Amino acid sequence: MKKRQLGKTNIEISEVGLGTWQLSGDVWGKKTEAEYIQAIEAAIDADINYLDTALDYGNGYCEQVIGKALQGNSSVVISSKIPPQCDDWSPKPQSKIQDYFSSDWIVKCCDTTLKNLRRECIDILFLHTWNLAWGHCTEWYEAMLKLKELGKIRAIGISVGDRRAGEANSHIEAGRIDVVQVVYNILEQEPEYTLFPMAQKHQVGIIARCPFSSGALVSGWTHSQKFPQGDWRGLWTPDDWVARQVEMVDLIKPIVKDINLSMSEIGLKYILNNQTVTSVIPGSSSTEHIRRNASVARLPNLSEDILHKLQQLWLDGKIQGTYNGGA
Ligand SMILES: NC(=O)c1ccc[n+]([C@@H]2O[C@H](COP(=O)([O-])OP(=O)(O)OC[C@H]3O[C@@H](n4cnc5c(N)ncnc54)[C@H](OP(=O)(O)O)[C@@H]3O)[C@@H](O)[C@H]2O)c1
Repeated sequence: MKKRQLGKTNIEISEVGLGTWQLSGDVWGKKTEAEYIQAIEAAIDADINYLDTALDYGNGYCEQVIGKALQGNSSVVISSKIPPQCDDWSPKPQSKIQDYFSSDWIVKCCDTTLKNLRRECIDILFLHTWNLAWGHCTEWYEAMLKLKELGKIRAIGISVGDRRAGEANSHIEAGRIDVVQVVYNILEQEPEYTLFPMAQKHQVGIIARCPFSSGALVSGWTHSQKFPQGDWRGLWTPDDWVARQVEMVDLIKPIVKDINLSMSEIGLKYILNNQTVTSVIPGSSSTEHIRRNASVARLPNLSEDILHKLQQLWLDGKIQGTYNGGA
């Protein structure tokens, strides 16, 4: 597995990591703790050295499972995220940052995460949402910096909203953040234009989330797609979301039909082709999928011709937007 350096930090992570939202026991379905631990072990066996989690995932449960699985193994890099205190995941321009990420809340959540993960230090700590209107605010940063000075975190990050890749750019420019987490995949190429140039200029790491557009790119959805009860994709998404995803994937299929790779491999290869990306974090609780995702590092790159065609689809506005129409 190839590793890439996270921006200016001395943290090196595998170019394919593991997204662990699926290990929360709630909105992605429920498996046993033993199955979740097997998923983490499969990732480490496959040379993945980076796990992304959040305090919100299963209300601490996912972090606790990771803590149990790793048993203090600090060679695995972990990122976690601080949830908004007011539990609103789509802050508006008029929203006050103190209601979302006050200094006290940041410190309290960091301590809970450390306890859940059974660690003394979190490698990367993200704020779990953001708004462009907070570009001038620095209190959150001072709290994070203090945590860094205390040795409780190694890198400061912002996980930007699903549709506003460049909204934390002023903090990149001011040198306040080490890493940004963003939705980036074949269907959502906007970060190439609104975030990556800034990240590259200031050597900020990029974690690419939702590489499969929450499953749409890889799971053979149809217009009559139904999700299990309690699955967020059937609860939080607009009525036309599945139809739109299916239509966009149908536009991609003819372009990639002669490549001898699966859709998951093509999706990951597209992302890793961009050298601004430090790591991509496909989310999975399936040992088989985790192994398959880890193995893409060994596959050849997509040709310039295919990359160009996929990029042109986005530039023409035929594929755009990937997520749940919310945050
Ligand atoms: N705001 C934020 O900060 C935020 C928001 C969303 C996600 N995230 C992070 O990003 C990670 C990834 O995003 P995501 O999970 O939302 O979406 P995703 O990675 O685009 O898609 C996950 C879906 O793809 C399936 N899958 C994974 N590998 C596959 C393979 N090789 N073949 C077929 N299906 C496969 C998974 O099912 P199986 O489990 O069956 O493999 C799951 O249904 C999350 O786990 C989380 O860590 C962060």
